[in-house]
Parts: sequence; structure tokens; C-alpha cells
Amino acid sequence: MKKILIIGSCGQIGTELVLNLRSRHGDSNVYAADLHVDCPVKLSGGPYVQMDVLKKEAVRDFIISKKISEVYLLAALLSAKAEKNPAFAWELNMDGLFTILDLAKEGYIDKIFWPSSIAVFGPTTPQENTPQLTVMEPSTVYGISKQAGERWCEYYHNHYGVDVRSIRYPGLISYTSLPGGGTTDYAVDIFYQAKLGNEFSCFLADDTVLPMMYMEDAIRATLELMDVPKESVKIRSSYNLSGCSFTPKEISEEIQKHIPEFKITYAPDFRQAIADTWPGSIDDSFARSDWGWGEKYNLEMLVNVMLENIDVSMISDA
Ligand code: NAD
Ligand code: SER
Repeated sequence: MKKILIIGSCGQIGTELVLNLRSRHGDSNVYAADLHVDCPVKLSGGPYVQMDVLKKEAVRDFIISKKISEVYLLAALLSAKAEKNPAFAWELNMDGLFTILDLAKEGYIDKIFWPSSIAVFGPTTPQENTPQLTVMEPSTVYGISKQAGERWCEYYHNHYGVDVRSIRYPGLISYTSLPGGGTTDYAVDIFYQAKLGNEFSCFLADDTVLPMMYMEDAIRATLELMDVPKESVKIRSSYNLSGCSFTPKEISEEIQKHIPEFKITYAPDFRQAIADTWPGSIDDSFARSDWGWGEKYNLEMLVNVMLENIDVSMISDA
């Protein structure tokens, strides 16, 4: 049985990825790692280790001693938080990646998953149906770090044969854990406020269209990409991936079909400037043809499943 490590496992993606990987590979073979000293209850069914990805030697010792063969590196500062602390965002988003890429180069790790983002695109990128290969001049520190990470992943694959695989996730929507400080977080927060019966003040303007995806689709895409033979993975920077695109107005209207009294107001802040540089929709034809990707959730389905499952006590507990 292979041993798998997920670094940044307590976050929005990590929580669901750990549970999925444990159900496939067995609880004891999937190590969850994060900064937190205590293991969150949701991840307590298998091994948990307190780990700072910036502590290079400790990370190396753990991976080598436990004979970890597959690493999912999720620890990062997301777009909004990164703009508040650019130097640290660059350090966190890049240094951990080099530690893991180098371990693979030295033969300790067989396969790596490292997520990129729609933030790799910038104001000069075509905004509709954004192609896989196009102009990329990101203007946020988060986007710059993701673009640099993509270049290094491809470099380590081309020069050292490292099997690293990546997806440019759109904004992810889920209810299992709270989002960690991105520009697309409004599309999760809105459900908590709607269910609590509160008016929602949106930090983006009503007509800001962004690519989004329901988490189940994102996890399935990740596992599908990690499962295919390496010859099928032709893009070694990061794959474009599309779910559904919508504006704050469109998602609020979909919520109003279930909760007619729900009200939204708009108070754009610094995150508007970030969103304005990102695409509105994504062309993911390379992912479709290389490894058979296809999304399942549209806006209507995503709103249904979120309203059915969201637990408002999570925001009072947070
Ligand atoms: P998140 O902020 O919810 O979770 C990140 C986790 O990393 C947190 O649990 C945090 O405690 C942990 N972490 C932070 N610093 C660490 C360190 N030094 N050592 C170990 N752990 C550390 O983020 P997420 O939404 O789960 O995103 C995971 C990855 O996916 C990131 O690389 C992010 O850029 C990327 N991504 C996410 C989205 C999205 O919409 N959620 C979209 C595109 C890309
Ligand atoms: N959801 C992420 C963010 O807003 C996109 O990478 O930062």
C-alpha cells in the first residue's frame, strides 16, 4: 500500500481530500498534516501530524522516514490574504514547493499534486473562454506565485523526470470546512448568511463573473488526474479546469428561488481589483481530451446541495 501525505490538510480542499483518499487507500495510509497542533475531529479517523511546510528538514525527515510516496501540497496563502502580506505569501507558496519537488528529484517521492489557480491569469489575458496556453501577466502576489510554481513544476518534470500534476482550480464552493481567505470566498459566505436569514453584504460588484466549481467536482478531478498513467499527463505546468461561471447577482437569484426573502447588497472592497483581473470563463479542452475531465455541477445543482447541507453553527464555532 502506498503512503500518502496531504500538507495543508485542515483547509477547505484538504479536509475533503483526506477523507476521499482515506476511503480509497485505507485510513492508516493517508497522513494529514497541517500547522494546527490538534487534529480536527473530521480528520481524526487516521494519522495526523503537526507540520510547518517551511521547516524543511522536519518535512524531509518525516517523508523519508515514513516512506511517503505521494504528496498533495495544499499549504498556501490565498489571494486576498496574500495581498496583505506579499513577502510571506511568496515564501510560503514557493519554499514548500521546492522542498517537495527536490524530494521527488532525489527519488524519495513518486508523485506530487500541487494546485494552481485561475489567478495565474491577469488583466491582459483573454477573459472569455480563457485558453490553456495564452497571455499570462498576473498582477497579484498570489497569481505570481502560482505562475512561478507552474513554471518550476514543468521544469522539474522536463529536467529531472518529476511526476508532478496540477490543476488551475476555479473558486471552490463547499460546506465541509470554511474557505481560507480568497477572492471567491463570497460564494461560500453567501450561503451561511442566507440560511441564517441575514442580509448579505457582498465584497464584489453584482456583475463580477468568475469561474467556480463545486468541491465534489474538484476532488474528483484531482483524483482522476492523479490516477491516469503519466503518459496521459501532457501538461506539466497546470491544467485549466471549468465548472460553472456566475456573478454575485446570479447566485443570489438562484438562492432566492429557495429563500425568497434573501437580500444581497454590494460593497466592493480591495478584492474587486483582484477579481477584475481574473477570467470569466475557462476553456478546459486539454483536460477533457488528455484525461477525460467533465464537470457535473451547474449553478442550480450547486445551490441546491449547498443549501441542503450547510451547517450554520460552523461560522459561530469558527
Ligand atoms: P485553505 O486556506 O483553506 O487551507 C490551507 C491550509 O494550509 C490551512 O489549513 C493552513 O493551516 C495550512 N497551512 C498554512 N501554512 C502552512 C504551513 N506553513 N505548513 C503547513 N500547513 C500550512 O486553502 P484551500 O482553499 O484548501 O487551498 C489549498 C490549495 O489550493 C492552495 O494552494 C490554494 O492556492 C489552492 N487553490 C484553492 C482554491 C479555492 O477556491 N479554495 C482555488 C484555487 C487554488
Ligand atoms: N479561490 C481562490 C482565491 O480566491 C482562487 O485561487 O484566492
